[in-house]
Amino acid sequence: MSIILSATNLSKVYSHRNHTTLALNNVTVSFEENTFTTIIGRSGSGKTTLLHLLSGLDKPTSGVVYLNHCQLSSLNERELLALRRKHVGFVFQENTLLNEFTVYENIMLPCIIDNRTLDTAYVDDLLHTLGLWDQKNYYPHQLSGGQMQRACIARSLSTRPTILFADEPTGQLDRKSGCEVFDLLLLSSRKYNTTIIQVSHDLKLAQMSDRILYLNDGCLSHKMEDFYAD
Ligand SMILES: Nc1ncnc2c1ncn2[C@@H]1O[C@H](COP(=O)(O)OP(=O)(O)OP(=O)(O)O)[C@@H](O)[C@H]1O
Ligand SMILES: [Mg+2]
Repeated sequence: MSIILSATNLSKVYSHRNHTTLALNNVTVSFEENTFTTIIGRSGSGKTTLLHLLSGLDKPTSGVVYLNHCQLSSLNERELLALRRKHVGFVFQENTLLNEFTVYENIMLPCIIDNRTLDTAYVDDLLHTLGLWDQKNYYPHQLSGGQMQRACIARSLSTRPTILFADEPTGQLDRKSGCEVFDLLLLSSRKYNTTIIQVSHDLKLAQMSDRILYLNDGCLSHKMEDFYAD
């Protein structure tokens, strides 16, 4: 399998007034195509920061990211946006569906914004796969938490991204809905050949991934023992 995404010596320092936070500390990691990775770590350990840097949503203080063989820092804003639109899907920690549009319209929006030919058969398939067919004409306020998360996942898959980043897609859900969303993410990754990198607090669910990475105070570890060292 080939490497689709890699980062070398990635660090991120946030400065706020006189205070600085080292959110990521020299992280080196790579991801093979069509694999499902879960990143685990305590609140504040740098998980969201890492996803934002890997997906080109934010820039590192130092270090490099290669996405689909392209070094992100070598691209101008327009090139970066084009690369992200072509290859990246992102499910945010909070629900980001637009309230004035139906589920179906929300899912179509990224393709419309990107001037793509609408593949209605594919969107219908996404709706069926993610169990949203009966809710396709609902507005976001008519959905349960799990349905909202599934709609966000369907929307981010609508452009057929090479890599889907999901920041705690099951974080707001009860255990049963969380399991369902996780299973559907796993199914989608296999069915649509998508590399998935998700963040979770749920070690049990994470164990169903191809790989688990542990973040501890901005440092990445591949071993659980390091994660629980303190
Ligand atoms: N924009 C910002 N400005 C200043 N500090 C920030 C900013 N974003 C994040 N941080 C800090 O960086 C650290 C890592 O934050 P991050 O959001 O990546 O953690 P997280 O692991 O995703 O946490 P959670 O599980 O609560 O979502 C935290 O100490 C946080 O306060
Ligand atoms: Mg976070």
